[in-house]
Amino acid sequence: MTIPDLIGSSERFRAVLEDVRVVAPAKCAVLVQGETGTGKEVIARAIHNSGPRHRGPFVGLNCAAIPGALLESELFGHERGAFTGAIEQTIGRFQAAHGGTLFLDEIGDLPLELQPKLLRVLQEQQYERLGSTRTLRADVRVIAATNQDLWRMVEERTFRADLYYRLSVFPISLPPLRERKDDISSLVEHFVQRFSRQMGKSIDQVPDGVMEIIRSHRWPGNIRELQNFIERSVIMTSGRVLSPRMTELKMLIQATVSAPTQTLSDAERDEYATASKAPEQMFAEEAIRRKYESLLQKVPARWQEYVKRKKKLVSSFVPKGTPGRPPDHETLDQLLQLTSQGKSLREIAIILGAQPEQIPSAIDRYRKLIDSARKRSKRGTNPS
Ligand SMILES: Nc1ncnc2c1ncn2[C@@H]1O[C@H](COP(=O)(O)OP(=O)(O)OP(=O)(O)O)[C@@H](O)[C@H]1O
Ligand SMILES: [Mg+2]
Repeated sequence: MTIPDLIGSSERFRAVLEDVRVVAPAKCAVLVQGETGTGKEVIARAIHNSGPRHRGPFVGLNCAAIPGALLESELFGHERGAFTGAIEQTIGRFQAAHGGTLFLDEIGDLPLELQPKLLRVLQEQQYERLGSTRTLRADVRVIAATNQDLWRMVEERTFRADLYYRLSVFPISLPPLRERKDDISSLVEHFVQRFSRQMGKSIDQVPDGVMEIIRSHRWPGNIRELQNFIERSVIMTSGRVLSPRMTELKMLIQATVSAPTQTLSDAERDEYATASKAPEQMFAEEAIRRKYESLLQKVPARWQEYVKRKKKLVSSFVPKGTPGRPPDHETLDQLLQLTSQGKSLREIAIILGAQPEQIPSAIDRYRKLIDSARKRSKRGTNPS
């Protein structure tokens, strides 16, 4: 399946497009999960545009952008006089999206008290405007998106489990750009063409060295960050060869050789440390420790218990995890992603081709790796 303006032919992205193709004709709710800038909204639009509702409206609502007190009225509408300031009857997003799709962005920010009301519409296709007793029927497909770990929120009781299951009838998980590096070149070319056209320039070459630097970077802000970088570079270019600012290229190189950061928030947290030390001074173990400490925090609580109970290492699920040697990032990333999706040990084992009892041992192993790196840095091997 190809969708215009959706660039990517890597295996991971093709799997996402296949999900879009499969789910588009159905009416079921879809939950799109992924880090910031991975394309959650464009995928939601692609589902809408390739389904039977494409002639109907696509209405978006960002749950994080609207104060909690106003969200209910935004969703369901209100009658005149329903509350102070309600000077006229207003329709909500459910009514605006009738016959089409309602895209609920940042769903993790939906206040707990509103969650049962959303659950009711999803289950019964019925709702009332604020201040009205008349029940309205909703004919809306709901696509929700989040960059939060919604399953963890369920465990922490900040998100209702019943709503989680309702929304995630069909979950789609968008890979971060660093896990689909094969797509970087075509994305770069696409953005260069697009911005050149918009700015009336005729850039048609990207030097190999520049492309290599771009490909090696981890892009914590994902496609949006890459897109912004290319836009700035096109502004800077006067001839046919893309010429990003030297300072920006240097920053990309520096970020690539320093601590491997996982997400934008990790990157922000690491900013001070990275800025205050030259990258070549940073010890690999310290980098590993920081990365995996933050990753391990994402392991759901019920798993942590399981790991603690297992005193002995059952086997070496990730044999490369010896202190000082960079561990198998991809496998652990995938493992943690699967746990955050609430998959069972057995399901994860099948997906990763391992035995269920090997998985907690992998987490245990990383914990030991972190502990020994920490002890080492306490003993004074820290370069700062
Ligand atoms: N596959 C793709 N091909 C081309 N452009 C893309 C692709 N995916 C995303 N983009 C572009 O990247 C930018 C970010 O996409 P989008 O807004 O959908 O991300 P998001 O996951 O919703 O981000 P956030 O979590 O910050 O809201 C957009 O400008 C979008 O056009
Ligand atoms: Mg978005």
